[in-house]
Amino acid sequence: MSILDNRPALAKQVNDVAEVAGYLWQKGWAERNGGNITVNVTDCVDDAMRALPAITEPIAIGVTLPHLKGCWFYCKGTNRRMRDLARWPMQNGSIIRITDDCAHYEIVADEPVMPTSELPSHLSVHNYLIAKGSPYKASVHTHPIELVAMSHNPEFLKKDVLTNLLWSMIPETKAFCPRGLGIVPYMLPSSVELADATIKAIDDDYDVVMWEKHGVFSVGPDVLEAFDMIDVLTKSAIIYQDAKSMGFTPDGMSAAQMKEISDVFHLPK
Ligand code: 13P
Ligand code: ZN
Repeated sequence: MSILDNRPALAKQVNDVAEVAGYLWQKGWAERNGGNITVNVTDCVDDAMRALPAITEPIAIGVTLPHLKGCWFYCKGTNRRMRDLARWPMQNGSIIRITDDCAHYEIVADEPVMPTSELPSHLSVHNYLIAKGSPYKASVHTHPIELVAMSHNPEFLKKDVLTNLLWSMIPETKAFCPRGLGIVPYMLPSSVELADATIKAIDDDYDVVMWEKHGVFSVGPDVLEAFDMIDVLTKSAIIYQDAKSMGFTPDGMSAAQMKEISDVFHLPK
């Protein structure tokens, strides 16, 4: 028995996470337990689900998140492998609900798999998105090789240097990641400080942010779109690095070409 049985909407959300987990592994971005995914599945919750008993005691989130009252999430399990989650999402992740004090969660199904250590960042961002009235439901954190490598150069960490460079490698990058790449300076993984800095960067109008020397964190309407933005940014990073390894610095599209893309696609920046 699984909570997904006879709940096609919830099963689709979890299956989409499993699909993306497979991509993260195939791309080499998910060594060991690297990366994590959460999805706000509150829209899929029915009365029978609400009546289910918790299978753990309430567990402290570490922060109080008032907009998450009554919310439910699918969360990757801490220390679980993306490559395992791709095949067995309910054995390597769990469905949690936020308790009424908005400071704890309890695991409801299927097994007591403890959520990701980056839960403070994921839940703080979901809290922020709800407060903003955003339709976004998914957040993805992963370790894309080329983007992380670029974050080791202080020049690329200045505001929008990397955004403009990556946008200029191929027209699609600006079209499909139109807010660019925000930068969060290095902070301890799983810390509340990292969560707060991530919200600040997203609030500065980015859908994808770089965690310096660690990885990226992306938000989107669903898990596939959150993945796609990281994928297009990484494609640009690979083109840049391929050109460099061929011995030249790529020209990049001109300012006029970039402006044309923004005008034609009605992009925000
Ligand atoms: P978890 O295994 O706890 O999800 O952590 C992986 C990770 O990438 C931490 O930043
Ligand atoms: Zn990480």
